[in-house]
Amino acid sequence: MAKYRIAWLPGEGIGKDVMDCAKIVLDAFKFDADYIPGDIGWEFWCKEGDPLPKRTIEMLKTTDCALFGAITSKPKEEAAKELNPELQGKGYVYASPIVRLRQEFNLRTNLRPCKAYDGNPLNYREAIDLVVFRENTEDLYAGIEFHPVPQDVMDILKKNHTKMKSFAQVPLEDVAISLRIITRQAAQNIVRDAFEYAKKYHYKTVTIVEKPNVIRETSGLMIREARKVARDYPGIELWETNIDAMCMWLIKNPLDYGVLVTSNMFGDIISDLCAQLVGGLGFASSGNIGDNYAVFEPTHGSAPKYAGKYKVNPIAMLLTVKLMFDWLGEADSARRLENAIAKVIKEGKVRTYDMGGQSTSLSVAEEVARNL
Ligand code: NAI
Ligand code: MG
Repeated sequence: MAKYRIAWLPGEGIGKDVMDCAKIVLDAFKFDADYIPGDIGWEFWCKEGDPLPKRTIEMLKTTDCALFGAITSKPKEEAAKELNPELQGKGYVYASPIVRLRQEFNLRTNLRPCKAYDGNPLNYREAIDLVVFRENTEDLYAGIEFHPVPQDVMDILKKNHTKMKSFAQVPLEDVAISLRIITRQAAQNIVRDAFEYAKKYHYKTVTIVEKPNVIRETSGLMIREARKVARDYPGIELWETNIDAMCMWLIKNPLDYGVLVTSNMFGDIISDLCAQLVGGLGFASSGNIGDNYAVFEPTHGSAPKYAGKYKVNPIAMLLTVKLMFDWLGEADSARRLENAIAKVIKEGKVRTYDMGGQSTSLSVAEEVARNL
């Protein structure tokens, strides 16, 4: 029996292209794993009315972690139209399978390293080394939303908060409410994960990015919990910034920062910003990490126009494999893989279109494999 069971979820579009690249590198390592293929994505929504079929979830439960490519997702109305005609009108509603994975396996931490590798022509500045910790299950993305707002929900809000007076006269169908929910436990967990990472990899600061001067209760809770957790890590400084100013500071002085930690939506925003500082979607890896399970994915989507062409940059996916190695405790393999990727970037002989080259995704992966 192999040492690991890895769920293999290419998804669709360039998800499949970059997973083929991951396989080239894993095979070069002779990585001791079985790869169990799983169905996920738009195709399964259209055919079966479920983009994350139950059989996939059951399969995932038998594995150590999952490697995931990308999927296609479309708005509600289009989803309804493309559903198999035999299933239409039977109450099937499209929901993002990625969000469901995060909830199903309580993958509470989203980890997104953004490093400017030497010689990458897309670096905004040299030597940027940022790591974003984004809370992955709560906040505005918990999906607790109302439109139109039910009368009893409106009544209870009016009764409990004086500021609701401003909205009292608005017809219920003309107001939408999305709840920002943050729990103390989730706040503590994400901040602790950030500090543990900073300690393990020798970052000097953890910056909490919120907006407590305006969003007093939810951002306030995050900051207060961060201050408490920080006391357990005397060698690491806690910095506090507001999300809006942080976007400015990251452009102005990106080298000043190390580990960043924040809630779900702000994390979504700054992780895209940080990714662009180090070369964009072709370099952006991520891990969705829970206590007992993790799903690793590049942050890009399925880029349908490049599907099957092996044109896109596989480095995001290969860095994602590196994160998986780290999580599995295969530190040596992680280091070797990262060094090989860094070397290929620096040498610049094999580059995909986004880096100004003409190489295929597969030849980049093969070049990395040669340099392991
Ligand atoms: P996308 O990330 O698929 O692609 C946008 C553009 O970024 C591409 O056209 C390409 O120019 C560039 N790009 C993406 N990955 C690249 C790579 N590895 N190397 C070089 N260039 C790369 O985002 P888009 O077009 O907004 O969405 C396409 C589909 O993907 C949609 O259905 C969307 O819902 C879905 N999506 C899925 C995600 C996931 O599976 N995690 C995340 C984001 C979008
Ligand atoms: Mg995003």
